[in-house]
Amino acid sequence: MPSTATTIGNFAFDNCLMNAAGVYCMTREELDAIEQSAAGSFVTKTGTLEERAGNPEPRYADTALGSINSMGLPNMGFQYYLDYVTELQNQPNSKNHFLSLVGMSPEETHTILKEIEASSYQGLVELNLSCPNVPGKPQIAYDFETTDQILAEVFSYFTKPLGVKLPPYFDIVHFDQAAAVFNKYPLVFVNCINSIGNGLVIEDEKVVIKPKNGFGGIGGDYVKPTALANVHAFYQRLNPSIQIIGTGGVKSGRDAFEHILCGASMVQIGTALHQEGPQVFERITKELKDIMASKGYNSLEDFRGKLNYID
Ligand code: DHB
Repeated sequence: MPSTATTIGNFAFDNCLMNAAGVYCMTREELDAIEQSAAGSFVTKTGTLEERAGNPEPRYADTALGSINSMGLPNMGFQYYLDYVTELQNQPNSKNHFLSLVGMSPEETHTILKEIEASSYQGLVELNLSCPNVPGKPQIAYDFETTDQILAEVFSYFTKPLGVKLPPYFDIVHFDQAAAVFNKYPLVFVNCINSIGNGLVIEDEKVVIKPKNGFGGIGGDYVKPTALANVHAFYQRLNPSIQIIGTGGVKSGRDAFEHILCGASMVQIGTALHQEGPQVFERITKELKDIMASKGYNSLEDFRGKLNYID
């Protein structure tokens, strides 16, 4: 039987599949459901310094080809999630987890990270540089200078294992510039991609979500080619010590296989988890193992990053 086990930094996971931040991760109850599922880990909803109610509803809609959302960072405050992952880490046989966070300003981000640094949490931390849905707040990772400044400051005090969640980039020069920034820092991983920001879905001459007159982050089938390109572009450019988490358009074993082929060490599921619930992990794990078995691959290392080009 092939294994889908993987590692990120010094952390081992029985399965490379897990939720994408924002889906099934707002409350302990939801996180528990992922913990009890076939997923190898969970990431928490991106936590801010204070709890937030987020944007007015409806703020998420499923579509035939995926989803659109403008949640606006509703969350219980980072401390809620920090408490929960710390509690789990002290239980025997607990999975390893990812704590996602961002401040509403660079100062707030540093306040949060300093509290995590001072806490007893020893797991992985994901700094979200790519929330597209807060009115008046541009995505940090589209501003390379600000990103560089924030990371320089962060690594002056933060010593725990840290990665960043990235938005999709669409230009080869931007892949080069972004990778040059990330390669300056001891990041454990980059996670590609967040939703494609600020799309618009229309039904019956009307937008389908309320915030921002219908503009929202796009996920699902629409985004897979963009996600695969970002995973592979960073796999080609980043120091080998910076691993890639692949997120975007995964609803089958084949989609997960393709992310790994592009270089992903772990694969996250967002829209399909929202549409199907936590049983999605068992189904996609089986589909991925069936593909690996049919090709004679026993582990992810047998094909990770080994995408073939046309000569
Ligand atoms: C939200 C959406 C994102 O894509 C993200 O990275 C963080 C927060 C949101 O709207 O809640």
